Amino acid sequence: MFERLATLPADPILGLMSLFRKDTNPNKVDLGVGVYKDEDGETPVLASVLAAETRLLSRQVTKAYVSPAGNPAFNAAMSSLLLGQSSVLAEGRFAAAQTPGGCGALRVAAELIKVANPSATIWVSDPTWGNHIPLLGNAGLTIRQYPYFDAAASAVDFSAMMSALAEVKAGDLVLLHGCCHNPTGADLSPEQWRQVAALALEVGFTPFVDMAYQGFADDLDADAYGLRYLVEHLPEVVVAASCSKNFGVYRDRVGLVGLLAANAGSANAALTHMQSIARGIYSMPPDHGAAVVAEVLTDAQLRALWEGEVAEMRGRINGLRETISAAMRTRLGSNRFDFVQRQKGMFSFLGLSEAEVLRLRGDYSIYMLNSSRASISGFSSANLDYVCDAIASVVSA
Ligand code: LMR
Repeated sequence: MFERLATLPADPILGLMSLFRKDTNPNKVDLGVGVYKDEDGETPVLASVLAAETRLLSRQVTKAYVSPAGNPAFNAAMSSLLLGQSSVLAEGRFAAAQTPGGCGALRVAAELIKVANPSATIWVSDPTWGNHIPLLGNAGLTIRQYPYFDAAASAVDFSAMMSALAEVKAGDLVLLHGCCHNPTGADLSPEQWRQVAALALEVGFTPFVDMAYQGFADDLDADAYGLRYLVEHLPEVVVAASCSKNFGVYRDRVGLVGLLAANAGSANAALTHMQSIARGIYSMPPDHGAAVVAEVLTDAQLRALWEGEVAEMRGRINGLRETISAAMRTRLGSNRFDFVQRQKGMFSFLGLSEAEVLRLRGDYSIYMLNSSRASISGFSSANLDYVCDAIASVVSA
Protein backbone atom coordinates (compact mmCIF):
# COMPACT_ATOMS: atom_id res chain seq x y z
CA MET A 1 0.00 0.00 0.00
CA PHE A 2 2.84 2.42 0.65
CA GLU A 3 3.57 2.69 -3.07
CA ARG A 4 0.44 4.85 -3.19
CA LEU A 5 2.13 7.55 -1.11
CA ALA A 6 3.69 10.48 -2.93
CA THR A 7 6.71 12.16 -1.32
CA LEU A 8 5.68 15.30 0.51
CA PRO A 9 7.55 18.59 0.29
CA ALA A 10 9.57 19.49 3.41
CA ASP A 11 7.92 21.60 6.12
CA PRO A 12 8.87 25.24 5.35
CA ILE A 13 10.51 25.79 8.77
CA LEU A 14 12.04 22.35 9.41
CA GLY A 15 13.10 22.02 5.74
CA LEU A 16 14.99 25.31 6.00
CA MET A 17 16.81 23.97 9.10
CA SER A 18 18.11 21.04 7.10
CA LEU A 19 19.13 23.24 4.13
CA PHE A 20 21.11 25.39 6.55
CA ARG A 21 22.86 22.37 8.06
CA LYS A 22 23.97 21.22 4.61
CA ASP A 23 25.41 24.63 3.60
CA THR A 24 29.24 24.54 3.84
CA ASN A 25 29.78 28.33 3.63
CA PRO A 26 31.66 29.29 6.85
CA ASN A 27 29.82 32.65 6.83
CA LYS A 28 26.34 31.09 6.79
CA VAL A 29 23.75 32.69 9.08
CA ASP A 30 20.62 30.99 10.41
CA LEU A 31 17.68 33.37 10.84
CA GLY A 32 15.20 30.54 10.28
CA VAL A 33 13.72 28.40 13.01
CA GLY A 34 12.44 30.01 16.22
CA VAL A 35 15.12 28.74 18.56
CA TYR A 36 16.80 31.34 20.79
CA LYS A 37 20.51 31.76 20.13
CA ASP A 38 23.02 33.59 22.30
CA GLU A 39 25.82 35.87 21.14
CA ASP A 40 27.91 32.80 20.22
CA GLY A 41 25.09 31.32 18.13
CA GLU A 42 24.48 28.60 20.74
CA THR A 43 21.28 27.46 22.44
CA PRO A 44 22.65 26.33 25.81
CA VAL A 45 20.60 24.65 28.53
CA LEU A 46 19.50 27.38 30.98
CA ALA A 47 21.38 27.30 34.32
CA SER A 48 18.06 27.17 36.20
CA VAL A 49 16.95 24.19 34.11
CA LEU A 50 20.24 22.36 34.57
CA ALA A 51 20.11 22.90 38.34
CA ALA A 52 16.53 21.59 38.48
CA GLU A 53 17.47 18.56 36.35
CA THR A 54 20.35 17.73 38.64
CA ARG A 55 18.08 17.86 41.67
CA LEU A 56 15.41 15.76 40.02
CA LEU A 57 17.90 13.11 38.95
CA SER A 58 19.22 12.74 42.48
CA ARG A 59 15.71 12.56 43.89
CA GLN A 60 13.87 10.43 41.33
CA VAL A 61 13.01 6.96 42.56
CA THR A 62 10.51 5.82 39.95
CA LYS A 63 9.54 6.24 36.35
CA ALA A 64 6.07 4.78 36.83
CA TYR A 65 3.23 6.37 34.84
CA VAL A 66 1.91 9.77 35.84
CA SER A 67 -1.49 10.41 34.18
CA PRO A 68 -2.94 11.71 30.91
CA ALA A 69 -3.12 15.17 32.52
CA GLY A 70 0.56 14.98 33.47
CA ASN A 71 2.24 16.49 36.50
CA PRO A 72 -0.20 18.28 38.87
CA ALA A 73 2.57 20.56 40.28
CA PHE A 74 3.45 21.61 36.75
CA ASN A 75 -0.18 22.26 35.86
CA ALA A 76 -0.69 24.43 38.95
CA ALA A 77 2.55 26.39 38.56
CA MET A 78 2.00 27.02 34.85
CA SER A 79 -1.62 28.07 35.42
CA SER A 80 -0.34 30.72 37.86
CA LEU A 81 2.43 31.83 35.52
CA LEU A 82 -0.15 32.35 32.80
CA LEU A 83 -3.01 33.83 34.81
CA GLY A 84 -1.22 35.47 37.76
CA GLN A 85 -3.26 35.68 40.94
CA SER A 86 -6.59 35.29 39.15
CA SER A 87 -9.54 34.33 41.32
CA VAL A 88 -10.66 31.87 38.63
CA LEU A 89 -7.93 29.52 39.84
CA ALA A 90 -9.31 29.39 43.39
CA GLU A 91 -12.85 29.08 42.01
CA GLY A 92 -11.84 25.95 40.07
CA ARG A 93 -12.91 27.50 36.74
CA PHE A 94 -9.57 26.85 35.00
CA ALA A 95 -8.92 23.27 33.86
CA ALA A 96 -5.36 22.51 32.74
CA ALA A 97 -3.38 19.54 31.52
CA GLN A 98 0.28 19.06 30.65
CA THR A 99 0.86 18.32 26.96
CA PRO A 100 3.75 17.35 24.67
CA GLY A 101 4.79 20.91 23.82
CA GLY A 102 2.64 23.82 22.72
CA CYS A 103 1.80 21.77 19.61
CA GLY A 104 0.26 19.05 21.80
CA ALA A 105 -1.70 21.76 23.63
CA LEU A 106 -3.06 23.22 20.39
CA ARG A 107 -4.10 19.79 19.17
CA VAL A 108 -5.77 18.69 22.42
CA ALA A 109 -7.64 22.01 22.49
CA ALA A 110 -8.75 21.54 18.88
CA GLU A 111 -9.97 17.99 19.59
CA LEU A 112 -11.83 19.26 22.65
CA ILE A 113 -13.50 22.04 20.66
CA LYS A 114 -14.48 19.45 18.06
CA VAL A 115 -16.25 17.43 20.77
CA ALA A 116 -17.89 20.44 22.45
CA ASN A 117 -18.94 22.30 19.30
CA PRO A 118 -18.26 20.37 16.06
CA SER A 119 -19.61 23.19 13.89
CA ALA A 120 -17.20 25.79 15.33
CA THR A 121 -14.82 27.54 12.97
CA ILE A 122 -11.39 28.52 14.27
CA TRP A 123 -10.28 31.90 12.98
CA VAL A 124 -6.53 32.39 12.76
CA SER A 125 -4.62 35.54 11.90
CA ASP A 126 -3.40 36.11 8.36
CA PRO A 127 -0.53 35.41 8.55
CA THR A 128 -0.07 32.98 11.39
CA TRP A 129 2.50 30.36 12.42
CA GLY A 130 2.59 27.82 9.56
CA ASN A 131 1.85 24.85 11.78
CA HIS A 132 -1.33 26.33 13.29
CA ILE A 133 -3.42 25.36 10.31
CA PRO A 134 -2.48 21.64 10.16
CA LEU A 135 -2.45 21.27 13.94
CA LEU A 136 -5.94 22.68 14.34
CA GLY A 137 -7.42 21.71 10.98
CA ASN A 138 -6.38 18.06 11.22
CA ALA A 139 -8.70 17.74 14.20
CA GLY A 140 -11.50 18.18 11.67
CA LEU A 141 -12.42 21.78 12.40
CA THR A 142 -12.97 24.45 9.77
CA ILE A 143 -10.16 27.00 9.76
CA ARG A 144 -10.56 30.53 8.39
CA GLN A 145 -8.31 33.54 8.46
CA TYR A 146 -8.90 37.10 9.64
CA PRO A 147 -6.75 40.00 8.37
CA TYR A 148 -4.06 40.94 10.87
CA PHE A 149 -1.02 42.57 9.34
CA ASP A 150 -0.60 45.75 7.34
CA ALA A 151 2.55 44.96 5.36
CA ALA A 152 3.04 48.55 4.20
CA ALA A 153 3.02 49.85 7.79
CA SER A 154 4.67 46.70 9.28
CA ALA A 155 2.03 46.87 12.03
CA VAL A 156 -1.24 45.28 13.09
CA ASP A 157 -4.14 46.26 10.81
CA PHE A 158 -6.48 46.54 13.76
CA SER A 159 -9.47 48.03 12.00
CA ALA A 160 -9.46 45.27 9.34
CA MET A 161 -9.06 42.65 12.07
CA MET A 162 -11.97 44.02 14.13
CA SER A 163 -14.26 44.36 11.10
CA ALA A 164 -13.63 40.71 10.21
CA LEU A 165 -14.11 39.49 13.79
CA ALA A 166 -17.39 41.39 14.06
CA GLU A 167 -18.74 38.99 11.40
CA VAL A 168 -17.77 35.64 12.98
CA LYS A 169 -20.51 33.34 14.33
CA ALA A 170 -21.32 33.04 18.01
CA GLY A 171 -19.52 29.92 19.26
CA ASP A 172 -16.57 30.28 16.88
CA LEU A 173 -13.03 30.43 18.26
CA VAL A 174 -10.55 33.21 17.50
CA LEU A 175 -6.91 32.27 17.84
CA LEU A 176 -4.81 35.15 19.20
CA HIS A 177 -1.06 35.13 19.83
CA GLY A 178 -0.61 36.02 23.52
CA CYS A 179 2.54 38.03 22.74
CA CYS A 180 5.41 38.06 20.21
CA HIS A 181 3.20 37.33 17.21
CA ASN A 182 4.73 34.62 15.04
CA PRO A 183 5.63 35.41 12.24
CA THR A 184 5.19 39.20 12.21
CA GLY A 185 6.45 40.44 15.61
CA ALA A 186 3.47 42.87 15.63
CA ASP A 187 1.45 42.59 18.87
CA LEU A 188 -1.85 44.00 20.09
CA SER A 189 -1.60 46.92 22.54
CA PRO A 190 -3.37 46.68 25.93
CA GLU A 191 -6.13 48.94 24.61
CA GLN A 192 -6.57 46.68 21.57
CA TRP A 193 -6.80 43.59 23.80
CA ARG A 194 -9.58 45.32 25.75
CA GLN A 195 -11.43 46.04 22.51
CA VAL A 196 -11.07 42.40 21.40
CA ALA A 197 -12.52 41.28 24.77
CA ALA A 198 -15.49 43.63 24.34
CA LEU A 199 -16.09 42.35 20.80
CA ALA A 200 -15.86 38.71 21.96
CA LEU A 201 -18.60 39.42 24.51
CA GLU A 202 -20.76 41.21 21.98
CA VAL A 203 -20.38 38.65 19.16
CA GLY A 204 -20.13 35.56 21.35
CA PHE A 205 -16.85 34.16 20.05
CA THR A 206 -14.36 32.43 22.36
CA PRO A 207 -10.76 33.65 22.40
CA PHE A 208 -8.16 30.92 22.03
CA VAL A 209 -4.78 32.26 23.12
CA ASP A 210 -1.52 30.70 21.99
CA MET A 211 1.16 31.73 24.48
CA ALA A 212 4.48 30.50 23.14
CA TYR A 213 6.83 33.33 24.12
CA GLN A 214 5.79 34.61 27.56
CA GLY A 215 8.65 36.77 28.87
CA PHE A 216 10.19 37.51 25.47
CA ALA A 217 8.45 40.85 24.79
CA ASP A 218 8.29 43.13 27.88
CA ASP A 219 8.20 40.91 30.97
CA LEU A 220 6.46 37.80 32.25
CA ASP A 221 3.44 39.69 33.59
CA ALA A 222 3.11 42.35 30.90
CA ASP A 223 3.27 39.68 28.20
CA ALA A 224 0.25 37.94 29.75
CA TYR A 225 -1.80 41.16 29.90
CA GLY A 226 -4.11 40.19 27.05
CA LEU A 227 -4.73 36.65 28.25
CA ARG A 228 -5.35 37.80 31.82
CA TYR A 229 -7.73 40.54 30.70
CA LEU A 230 -9.74 38.06 28.64
CA VAL A 231 -9.86 35.61 31.55
CA GLU A 232 -11.15 38.32 33.90
CA HIS A 233 -13.84 39.53 31.51
CA LEU A 234 -15.16 36.54 29.58
CA PRO A 235 -16.96 33.35 30.57
CA GLU A 236 -14.80 31.03 28.43
CA VAL A 237 -11.23 31.21 27.11
CA VAL A 238 -8.96 28.50 25.69
CA VAL A 239 -5.17 28.63 26.16
CA ALA A 240 -2.27 26.70 24.65
CA ALA A 241 1.10 27.43 26.25
CA SER A 242 4.60 26.34 25.33
CA CYS A 243 7.68 26.19 27.57
CA SER A 244 10.00 25.53 24.61
CA LYS A 245 11.36 29.07 24.34
CA ASN A 246 11.13 30.64 27.79
CA PHE A 247 12.61 27.55 29.49
CA GLY A 248 14.69 26.50 26.47
CA VAL A 249 13.33 22.94 26.74
CA TYR A 250 12.49 22.64 23.03
CA ARG A 251 13.21 18.95 22.55
CA ASP A 252 11.72 17.90 25.89
CA ARG A 253 8.25 18.88 24.60
CA VAL A 254 6.62 20.79 27.45
CA GLY A 255 3.29 22.54 27.11
CA LEU A 256 -0.03 23.15 28.80
CA VAL A 257 -3.59 23.20 27.52
CA GLY A 258 -5.97 25.19 29.68
CA LEU A 259 -9.50 26.40 29.55
CA LEU A 260 -11.61 28.80 31.49
CA ALA A 261 -15.18 27.56 31.90
CA ALA A 262 -18.22 29.38 33.22
CA ASN A 263 -18.18 27.33 36.43
CA ALA A 264 -16.13 24.67 38.23
CA GLY A 265 -18.50 21.87 37.16
CA SER A 266 -17.95 22.62 33.47
CA ALA A 267 -14.19 22.98 34.02
CA ASN A 268 -14.05 19.56 35.70
CA ALA A 269 -16.07 17.96 32.92
CA ALA A 270 -13.77 19.55 30.32
CA LEU A 271 -10.75 18.16 32.16
CA THR A 272 -12.16 14.63 31.85
CA HIS A 273 -12.40 15.20 28.10
CA MET A 274 -8.84 16.56 27.88
CA GLN A 275 -7.62 13.43 29.63
CA SER A 276 -9.64 11.16 27.40
CA ILE A 277 -8.36 12.97 24.27
CA ALA A 278 -4.75 12.69 25.48
CA ARG A 279 -5.28 9.00 26.26
CA GLY A 280 -6.59 8.46 22.73
CA ILE A 281 -3.66 10.20 21.01
CA TYR A 282 -0.48 9.75 23.07
CA SER A 283 -1.78 8.37 26.38
CA MET A 284 0.41 10.57 28.56
CA PRO A 285 2.79 13.49 28.06
CA PRO A 286 6.54 12.93 28.62
CA ASP A 287 7.46 13.63 32.25
CA HIS A 288 10.96 15.01 32.36
CA GLY A 289 10.69 18.55 30.95
CA ALA A 290 7.51 19.37 32.84
CA ALA A 291 8.98 18.08 36.11
CA VAL A 292 11.95 20.40 35.52
CA VAL A 293 9.71 23.39 34.81
CA ALA A 294 7.65 22.65 37.94
CA GLU A 295 10.84 22.55 40.02
CA VAL A 296 12.04 25.88 38.58
CA LEU A 297 8.71 27.63 39.10
CA THR A 298 8.10 26.41 42.65
CA ASP A 299 11.59 26.88 44.13
CA ALA A 300 12.21 30.55 44.99
CA GLN A 301 15.92 30.45 44.22
CA LEU A 302 15.59 28.62 40.91
CA ARG A 303 12.70 30.82 39.91
CA ALA A 304 14.69 34.01 40.50
CA LEU A 305 17.57 32.54 38.49
CA TRP A 306 15.18 31.62 35.66
CA GLU A 307 13.47 35.03 35.63
CA GLY A 308 16.93 36.58 35.25
CA GLU A 309 17.72 34.25 32.37
CA VAL A 310 14.44 35.10 30.61
CA ALA A 311 15.23 38.81 31.11
CA GLU A 312 18.64 38.26 29.58
CA MET A 313 17.22 36.52 26.47
CA ARG A 314 14.61 39.26 26.09
CA GLY A 315 17.20 42.01 26.62
CA ARG A 316 19.46 40.55 23.95
CA ILE A 317 16.64 40.34 21.40
CA ASN A 318 15.42 43.86 22.14
CA GLY A 319 18.99 45.19 21.96
CA LEU A 320 19.51 43.48 18.61
CA ARG A 321 16.28 45.00 17.33
CA GLU A 322 17.62 48.51 18.02
CA THR A 323 21.02 47.72 16.53
CA ILE A 324 19.51 46.24 13.36
CA SER A 325 17.23 49.26 12.84
CA ALA A 326 20.18 51.65 13.35
CA ALA A 327 22.47 49.64 11.08
CA MET A 328 19.89 49.63 8.28
CA ARG A 329 19.23 53.37 8.74
CA THR A 330 22.95 54.04 8.21
CA ARG A 331 23.13 51.78 5.19
CA LEU A 332 19.97 52.94 3.41
CA GLY A 333 19.72 56.51 4.66
CA SER A 334 16.04 55.80 5.42
CA ASN A 335 13.88 54.57 8.27
CA ARG A 336 12.52 51.65 6.22
CA PHE A 337 13.64 49.10 8.84
CA ASP A 338 12.73 51.08 11.98
CA PHE A 339 9.76 48.76 12.53
CA VAL A 340 12.22 46.07 13.65
CA GLN A 341 12.82 47.98 16.88
CA ARG A 342 9.10 48.55 17.46
CA GLN A 343 8.20 44.85 17.11
CA LYS A 344 8.44 42.17 19.79
CA GLY A 345 9.72 38.69 20.30
CA MET A 346 11.69 36.23 18.27
CA PHE A 347 10.58 37.26 14.79
CA SER A 348 10.02 40.10 12.37
CA PHE A 349 8.88 40.09 8.80
CA LEU A 350 11.66 42.02 7.08
CA GLY A 351 9.36 43.06 4.23
CA LEU A 352 11.55 41.50 1.53
CA SER A 353 10.21 39.86 -1.61
CA GLU A 354 10.67 36.12 -2.02
CA ALA A 355 13.22 36.82 -4.79
CA GLU A 356 15.23 38.95 -2.34
CA VAL A 357 15.04 36.24 0.33
CA LEU A 358 16.26 33.66 -2.18
CA ARG A 359 19.14 35.93 -3.21
CA LEU A 360 20.18 36.28 0.43
CA ARG A 361 20.14 32.49 0.70
CA GLY A 362 21.84 31.77 -2.63
CA ASP A 363 24.45 34.55 -2.70
CA TYR A 364 25.16 35.05 1.03
CA SER A 365 24.05 31.83 2.78
CA ILE A 366 21.66 33.85 4.96
CA TYR A 367 18.61 31.71 5.80
CA MET A 368 15.17 33.08 6.64
CA LEU A 369 11.68 31.89 5.70
CA ASN A 370 10.53 32.74 2.16
CA SER A 371 8.04 35.18 3.70
CA SER A 372 11.12 37.12 4.99
CA ARG A 373 10.38 36.11 8.59
CA ALA A 374 13.72 36.46 10.36
CA SER A 375 14.57 35.02 13.76
CA ILE A 376 16.18 38.02 15.43
CA SER A 377 18.36 36.15 17.94
CA GLY A 378 20.23 34.61 14.96
CA PHE A 379 21.92 38.01 14.52
CA SER A 380 25.10 38.54 16.57
CA SER A 381 27.92 41.06 16.67
CA ALA A 382 29.94 38.65 14.53
CA ASN A 383 27.40 38.57 11.65
CA LEU A 384 25.33 41.75 11.99
CA ASP A 385 27.36 43.87 9.55
CA TYR A 386 27.52 41.01 7.08
CA VAL A 387 23.75 40.44 7.19
CA CYS A 388 22.82 44.15 7.11
CA ASP A 389 25.20 44.77 4.17
CA ALA A 390 23.63 41.84 2.33
CA ILE A 391 20.06 43.04 3.02
CA ALA A 392 21.00 46.57 1.91
CA SER A 393 22.52 45.18 -1.25
CA VAL A 394 19.51 43.03 -2.20
CA VAL A 395 16.96 45.76 -1.51
CA SER A 396 18.98 48.34 -3.44
CA ALA A 397 19.63 46.11 -6.45
C1 LMR B 1 9.12 28.49 14.68
O1 LMR B 1 8.10 29.11 14.36
O2 LMR B 1 10.19 28.57 14.03
C2 LMR B 1 9.11 27.63 15.91
O3 LMR B 1 7.89 27.75 16.56
C3 LMR B 1 9.54 26.25 15.66
C4 LMR B 1 8.55 25.40 14.92
O4 LMR B 1 8.24 24.31 15.41
O5 LMR B 1 8.08 25.79 13.84
